[in-house]
Amino acid sequence: MTNSLTIARPDDWHLHLRDGAMLGAVLPETARDFARAIIMPNLVPPVITGVQAAAYRDRILAALPEGADFTPLMTLYLTEDTDPADVAAAHASGLITSVKLYPAGATTNSASGVSNFDNVRGVLEKMAEIGLPLCMHGEVTDHDIDIFDREAVFIDRVLDPIRRATPGLRVVMEHITTANGVEYVKSNPTDLGATITTHHLIINRNHILVGGIKPHYYCLPVAKREEHRLALRAAATSGDARFFLGTDSAPHLDGAKEQACGCAGCFTATNTMPLLAHVFEEDGALDKLESFASLNGPAFYGLPVNDTKLTLRKSATATEFPAKIDTPDGPVTVFDPGYPIYWSVA
Ligand code: NCD
Ligand code: ZN
Repeated sequence: MTNSLTIARPDDWHLHLRDGAMLGAVLPETARDFARAIIMPNLVPPVITGVQAAAYRDRILAALPEGADFTPLMTLYLTEDTDPADVAAAHASGLITSVKLYPAGATTNSASGVSNFDNVRGVLEKMAEIGLPLCMHGEVTDHDIDIFDREAVFIDRVLDPIRRATPGLRVVMEHITTANGVEYVKSNPTDLGATITTHHLIINRNHILVGGIKPHYYCLPVAKREEHRLALRAAATSGDARFFLGTDSAPHLDGAKEQACGCAGCFTATNTMPLLAHVFEEDGALDKLESFASLNGPAFYGLPVNDTKLTLRKSATATEFPAKIDTPDGPVTVFDPGYPIYWSVA
């Protein structure tokens, strides 16, 4: 039995840090274990321009705990008014690592996202030209499409046409939740990667709904059937370089989740690495955890692997994670897998 695992320090290729008091509360949770993270731009108002991204990066750096070893990788929120020249300048200066596409209305704070994909063609072509990756929230928003089908339909109706129309555009399918997503990535060997969250490796839709509604398991894209979770597990633990960790850790105050119309998002920053160690060990793939969490992401983005290390230890007694973290505005519940975890970060 393996009781200790040392890997290159991991990165989180999809993270929500928010702003203000929430940023101050959640940033240490990520900076403790992760060296870098792709920072989602869906603030209110969103981070649309290079100037806004630079200011947000400064606020993140100012909120970092003393001595933390953490680099935020900034993104711009793509709108139909985004200026290709502003995107190119932000990329050339090293400020941004990707651009984020939200279909309008697809998820939390996505009202300024894209409705007509023809209107972002110029930006996408510029991104293909300069080698700047596009991170996509892959769900259609049509009211007649069942919420559990939104990812699969997005692949056919939006993702595949955009990729065909924009050769050379590097795309990350974010937080894939379906076997369809896994298959699409596998059958398109170039210019395509996918992030997988911690929670989608652990829960299926029954966990949200059976025995009473569990608001802290509700996120977007919503967890699907068990067969999809198993497809995600197989992809994540396979070592295939196109699949890498993006936690989509998305903090909301408990008051905003535990109500009649609760927000989408699971907060996993605090315990992601021990949970992943459990998942990979369960699948007999502990030797692939480093690929998923520390190697495949940098390879896709053309960045160096971190030269610092992270050690995970397994003990005989279950690890006690905090149930909640405190913010000045109230608590945020930490994702609970529903079973004991014996791994912890050393
Ligand atoms: C995210 C959030 O809260 O910002 N919510 C979520 O359920 N994942 C938005 C997103 O990534 O879809
Ligand atoms: Zn997200």
